[in-house]
Amino acid sequence: MIIKTKKLISSSEITPPEIFQERRKFIRMLGLTMVGANIPSAFASEDKISLANIFRNTALDNSLKSTPAELVQNYTNYYEFTFNKDDSTKLAQSMVIDPWSVEISGEVEKPQVYHLEDILSKQTLEERIYRFRCVEGWSMVVPWVGFSLSNLLKIAQPLSTAQFVKFTTIQQPETMPNQRDKKMLEFPYVEGLRIDEAMHPLTLLAVGMYGETLPKQNGAPLRLVVPWKYGFKSIKAIVKIELLKKPPLTTWNKSAPQEYGFYANVNPSVPHPRWSQNSERLLGSGFFTPRRQTELFNGYGEQIASLYQDMDLRHFF
Ligand code: MTE
Repeated sequence: MIIKTKKLISSSEITPPEIFQERRKFIRMLGLTMVGANIPSAFASEDKISLANIFRNTALDNSLKSTPAELVQNYTNYYEFTFNKDDSTKLAQSMVIDPWSVEISGEVEKPQVYHLEDILSKQTLEERIYRFRCVEGWSMVVPWVGFSLSNLLKIAQPLSTAQFVKFTTIQQPETMPNQRDKKMLEFPYVEGLRIDEAMHPLTLLAVGMYGETLPKQNGAPLRLVVPWKYGFKSIKAIVKIELLKKPPLTTWNKSAPQEYGFYANVNPSVPHPRWSQNSERLLGSGFFTPRRQTELFNGYGEQIASLYQDMDLRHFF
């Protein structure tokens, strides 16, 4: 699939007037990156982010109405900090995210530790407005800023033996209370994809949302976004990417295999053992607004259904 992009002229239609905590650091980091790469800086000044060098993906449904940023940024799942959706906004601010590097290893020609600045200096950032569906039955629409994961993997040159990709979140127990207390889940948080899923152009590594840096509670400085899968696959604060011959054991699959499958593709006709997946509550929709009918592959079937043509969709979760 070819992803067409068009230059994004104005952010006003998608950027609500909230204050974004990480703005300055993100601007500094990307500004340095662009200057270093001898490309005109994307940012006019430290105070105002310019989207001049971010492209909007026009192969996607851009008529989607973004969920208000303050809802997306204050209703988060970040179990390293808390099991409560409201509290990570505050708790995650203690995370140390600068400097940041990502180790790519395993079945690749060029295993290496990449500094985030170096990764970004080779990427054209794109805005992609994606639906995001949590297995708990809520959903949102987010204008992410990032680049295709495949762009990064290609730099490391995957070998033909690479069949799966394992992602690992940072281990930072000094700032992440549930890593210290070893509560409920085993940390670090681990997720995985099949190599063809990872190389698909829709699979995004996000560094921003709403035209600004990613807030810490949403996975700064670098997270995965796989729009056709349930939200738990979209791992936050990635520090390690390993290409493997065999499927990795992922955090939720290990913790409750009967509830959280490796694939976890959005599918309204395969219920979770505790919840129907037939419909969803769109964050921000009014109390009397009917739930939205969930779509197979979260509405991205046209782009990705061919990845699963040999699988019986009734039997995997
Ligand atoms: N990544 C890490 N490291 N830790 C987490 O607890 N939660 C997952 C996923 N990525 C999680 C994570 C779940 S369950 C969901 S639904 C999404 O992040 C939520 O993303 P959001 O908080 O930005 O909405």
